[in-house]
Amino acid sequence: MLGLAVLDFGSQYAQLIARRLREKGVYAELFPWDAQPETVLAMAPQGFVLSGGPASVYEPNAPYIPEYVLESGRPVLGICYGLQALAHQLGGRVARAPRREYGLAWLHVPEANPLLPVGRHRVWMSHGDRVEALPPGFQALGHTENSPYAAIGDPARGYYGVQFHPEVQHTPIGPEMLHRFAVRVAEATDDWRPEGRIPQLVEAIRRQIGPGRALAAVSGGVDSAVAAALVHRAIGDRLTAVFVDTGLLRQGEREEVTRTLRGLGIPLRVVDASRRFLQALRGVTDPEQKRRIVGETFIRVFEEAARDLGSPRFLVQGTIYPDVIESRAPERRHAARIKTHHNVGGLPERMGFELVEPLRYFFKDEVRRLGLALGLPARWVWKQPFPGPGLAVRCVGEVTPERLARLRAADAIFREELEKAGLLGPPRPEGPNPVAQAFAVLLPVRSVGVMGDQRTYHEVVVLRAVETEDFMTADWARLPEDLLARVASRIVNEVPGVNRVLYDVTTKPPGTIEWE
Ligand code: XMP
Repeated sequence: MLGLAVLDFGSQYAQLIARRLREKGVYAELFPWDAQPETVLAMAPQGFVLSGGPASVYEPNAPYIPEYVLESGRPVLGICYGLQALAHQLGGRVARAPRREYGLAWLHVPEANPLLPVGRHRVWMSHGDRVEALPPGFQALGHTENSPYAAIGDPARGYYGVQFHPEVQHTPIGPEMLHRFAVRVAEATDDWRPEGRIPQLVEAIRRQIGPGRALAAVSGGVDSAVAAALVHRAIGDRLTAVFVDTGLLRQGEREEVTRTLRGLGIPLRVVDASRRFLQALRGVTDPEQKRRIVGETFIRVFEEAARDLGSPRFLVQGTIYPDVIESRAPERRHAARIKTHHNVGGLPERMGFELVEPLRYFFKDEVRRLGLALGLPARWVWKQPFPGPGLAVRCVGEVTPERLARLRAADAIFREELEKAGLLGPPRPEGPNPVAQAFAVLLPVRSVGVMGDQRTYHEVVVLRAVETEDFMTADWARLPEDLLARVASRIVNEVPGVNRVLYDVTTKPPGTIEWE
């Protein structure tokens, strides 16, 4: 497939470069900078984009632009570290800037060039080094107060570099600039659409599975349902979707999954294992232990269901592109483990399943578009993420049926009010932006209250609502006061056993989104 290869030099924004290009209809894939050349060249890239990164070009063992890139004869766009690597490797000079440039800057472009229109553009900078002498063949295309070579180019070779970050929101001209590089310089097309890939995806699934049968573990979330719908389109009723009711689901969730998947004609097996999960969780309060128990119980329940269904050879997983990128990015492999995330990982190794992962190359927003094209309701494709361990990690303290019922009722009220206010579900052109994630948490803390003339001594509910793009960092949502007031009053009045409601105003970091 044609498109651009983005090489990741360790920038936290590398994924965004590929996303911005795809949002503009230009196909792009992300590779670690030291990926095997054959892996990258297999996509026949029409051009390369080099991401930023934390290194300095003159450090020993600094990442460098691989030879095959410069020998390909294809255009190259270097961003931040990518620009510095280009300048350094092609005979220019890079040095530490007199001061670090971080944040907004004005880029002056004196003459029109293939990447940027004439003018003054707001751009976002984050760098300590800068280019001080241009390599032969290059010219300056734009400067900021601190960077004489904030944009440079060698039009004859199609080599360009920018010191700023065109991929971040704070650079309004960024997407347009990336698009210009792709289309005008690298001569890529901009008609790529995720929905347009459905026929090829279906074909590839058919080739992989042949006459075999497959299971899809559906979680109730977007990715696993879209993956199941795609595979169902490819192999029809040789697919069975398995949904495990862990007893840790939100109100109405099991019914919604059943209705939706059956509505799409996908054969569905619902396994009610709630008693088993609650039994295993009895007396457990440690968050990591809860996560482990839910994960292990899930595997056991799923194994039994698979055996029951005649042990199909293939397992469909809703792995999406960011998961793939995260697991192979060099500097992220050793990231500290904050929480043991639970998904259906672990199933394939243990059961010898062969994996079918049709969404491996798609970003979340693209998966949503695929879902809509495959007939999933908008309400579903705009669902918020829900953690694998479910309400177990929102029921702080011991997980008992009574406490779960309390939590479920409070959570349902919160979500209902958010939905009424237009703050849940698909974004609408006019109207407020929906919150990225919102839920209730039940604390194992009791406080004194008064209801009528009676003293109460009941538990505390926390409301958590966050704004985030990528769930790696998050800010608490500034929900309207009257909405919070209504939710609090309804919870205290309608949910027995709760007499106090708090709103969580912690950002991530240092907090996390979930409480456990
Ligand atoms: P934290 O709490 O780490 O959550 O800030 C970030 C995002 O991940 C979701 N989350 C999980 N998702 N399995 C999942 O599939 C898990 O075990 C899990 N734990 C947290 C969380 O809801 C948020 O969207």
